[in-house]
Amino acid sequence: MKVSIIGAGNVGATCAQFIAMKGIVSEIVLLDIAEGLAAGKAMDLAQSMPALGFDTIIHPEVSDYSKVANSEVVVVTSGQPRKPGMSREELVAVNVSIVESVVKNAMKHAPNAVFVIVTNPLDTMTLVALKASGLPKNKIIGMGAMLDSNRFRYFLSQKLQKPINEIEAMVIGGHGDTTMIPVKELATYKGIPISELLTDEVFDEVIKETMVGGATLTKHLGTSAWYGPGAAVAELVDAIVNDKKKLLPNSVYLEGEFGIEGICIGVPCIIGKNGVEKIIQIKLTDADLVKLNASAKAINEVNGLI
Ligand code: LAC
Repeated sequence: MKVSIIGAGNVGATCAQFIAMKGIVSEIVLLDIAEGLAAGKAMDLAQSMPALGFDTIIHPEVSDYSKVANSEVVVVTSGQPRKPGMSREELVAVNVSIVESVVKNAMKHAPNAVFVIVTNPLDTMTLVALKASGLPKNKIIGMGAMLDSNRFRYFLSQKLQKPINEIEAMVIGGHGDTTMIPVKELATYKGIPISELLTDEVFDEVIKETMVGGATLTKHLGTSAWYGPGAAVAELVDAIVNDKKKLLPNSVYLEGEFGIEGICIGVPCIIGKNGVEKIIQIKLTDADLVKLNASAKAINEVNGLI
């Protein structure tokens, strides 16, 4: 089994690292147009394997997309990341043509793959990939809401002082500082609604922190995050390759679900070997439905720039 990762920057290389460490596939192709980058990262990763006890083969590649052939999943991380003070949406112009060309090249050799898009602005780039590939909508998945959900869990665990893995929470909507929707009603600690454990005021603080979670990290790091994105991609790839039918929120193309049409936006999905196996139309509060519509409108505006 094989997964290809296009873009060997921080995010792409960390996707490779976590996919290897989970033992999901036997082979990973790591491709980057920057001469030496994929080669160096692949070699460094391979040299970490004896100490860690895993043995995934990582093939570096510069431009030969034929190496991507027979991949179960192609992960697209290519493009410019955010810099401090920048919104994800400001990256549209530069990243559209990159994502288009990467997807078209990968499609020539891996037309049966499921594509996972990570490049920002995520929801728009997922639509760009869908159009460039000509693939059915179930095969194009934008990874943003999974990461945002993990950040929501993190901020909840901080406030509750409870282990992060005992907390369940979900973010839907766009992968943007103002477009994501941390769903209060779905946040639980060991099955207990967290709204019973935190005051409204504290909960709203958590929601605010979650929404700017990526920006906060970007400010600290001088560029955007990679461990959280890489780990979420690895979980997503595992669900696809091993047909786990996991419920994971991702940006997918909607045709009327939640009353939204013609855009990619984060919603709860069942993920398996066909990519998106099903979209789960959870019941949202009226307030969250209003937010989801506003989020869709904002994504539509960014889509208008492509
Ligand atoms: C983030 C970037 C990857 O949320 O969108 O960290």
